Amino acid sequence: MAHTSSPTPFTVPAATTLSGRIRVPGDKSISHRSLMLSALAVGESRVEGLLEGEDVLATAAAMRAMGAAIERGSDGVWRIHGVGVGGLLQPRQGLEMGNSGTSTRLLMGLVASHPITATFTGDASLSSRPMARVTVPLAQMGASIEASPGTRLPLTVRGACPAVPIEYELPVASAQVKSAILLAGLNTPGITRVIEPVPTRDHSERMLAGFGAQITVERGPRGRIISLTGEAELKPQSIVVPGDPSSAAFWMVAASIVPGSDVVIENVGLNPTRAGLLTALRMMGADITEVDPRIVGGEPVADLHVRHAALTGIVVPHDLAPSMIDEYPALFVAAAFAAGETVARGAEELRVKESDRIAAMRAALEANGVRTQEHEDGLTVHGSGGERIAGGATVFTKLDHRIAMSMTVAGLHARNAIAIDDIAPVATSYPAFYEQLASLSGAAA
Ligand code: S3P
Repeated sequence: MAHTSSPTPFTVPAATTLSGRIRVPGDKSISHRSLMLSALAVGESRVEGLLEGEDVLATAAAMRAMGAAIERGSDGVWRIHGVGVGGLLQPRQGLEMGNSGTSTRLLMGLVASHPITATFTGDASLSSRPMARVTVPLAQMGASIEASPGTRLPLTVRGACPAVPIEYELPVASAQVKSAILLAGLNTPGITRVIEPVPTRDHSERMLAGFGAQITVERGPRGRIISLTGEAELKPQSIVVPGDPSSAAFWMVAASIVPGSDVVIENVGLNPTRAGLLTALRMMGADITEVDPRIVGGEPVADLHVRHAALTGIVVPHDLAPSMIDEYPALFVAAAFAAGETVARGAEELRVKESDRIAAMRAALEANGVRTQEHEDGLTVHGSGGERIAGGATVFTKLDHRIAMSMTVAGLHARNAIAIDDIAPVATSYPAFYEQLASLSGAAA
């Protein structure tokens, strides 16, 4: 995969304004799930708008290795012939996950309740990420797991068949852990139950219901209770993947901070479990309107019209954290151009993403003239009040696509050019990012 080969450095050209319309790629979370569930349905599913980034392609390769037929038509529609729940085949080789935590953790769940064994490997970033949050519940379901020290990759999951249904209260707010357990529950007799004290993205629940699984969600004293009846029969679906709000985030911030900007971002998924950045930016005074709200693939979607605005620092409400967990790097950049300070805490999960995003963003912003204070669970950022930041330094992205894209956005309004050490990881989630940047800033791609 590109990001494991030689680094691709990039120097960010300052932008005068950003203007035009762009369409962000398909939602990464929904793309992974659409491939996995289609691969477990009997018959042909169709997926339109799939994100064709390295992370999702790693999921496609793994599902093929376990027996699904997955093809991309010349019309851009993906057609998947599933093997049925219980029908996953023994992969002949290890499953290479590249940079993708979502592929790894969700697929571990699938393997855990099938009579197969799979070894997961990944790049340096993924190999440093904690997997115990998934191995603990999957072991309770009967899977046996051998992991590298610290419960990291490379890691082998030997599935249990039959697996044992569990009731599991999530100790961390993680949609990946929730989804791994639910996916394991698909081929487990009885009812698998996940209790979620803090709600996280609910794409798995929505899509499982869409594929015909028996799944209920209730509110209880300890939080959301998700119950899935196992030995499910999934029916093939036709899925339209909405645009990824986590990719739209970069343009929401870019158009807000570069004076004179006026941008329409088309087809942005606005599932409330994902829309926290929109709320936070509006609290800061951003000028973002939702145009033509509609439902796409069972998810709320709108076009976002973003115009430059004077931003003011805020205290980011802690309860927004799960619905904007991937957007903090972009939010820190917005904060760097706001008047006054922005305090973003209650987001300790940022330490275990593709990089330690608190440390990586702190270092990147400080080097480029933005004053910050690091907390164990977040960052305080002192903004420029809309002025250009100093810039002039190199950003170390640590194999993290979102650090690369966020600091590219910061570089659009800097006095001196910001250099990014390696933009290759952007291909994991947003292969067209730099072309779209060129088109919005009126430069040739
Ligand atoms: C994801 C869940 C989140 C998010 C990740 C995608 C998913 O991770 O950060 O990019 O698709 O379920 P956690 O479950 O670790 O919070």
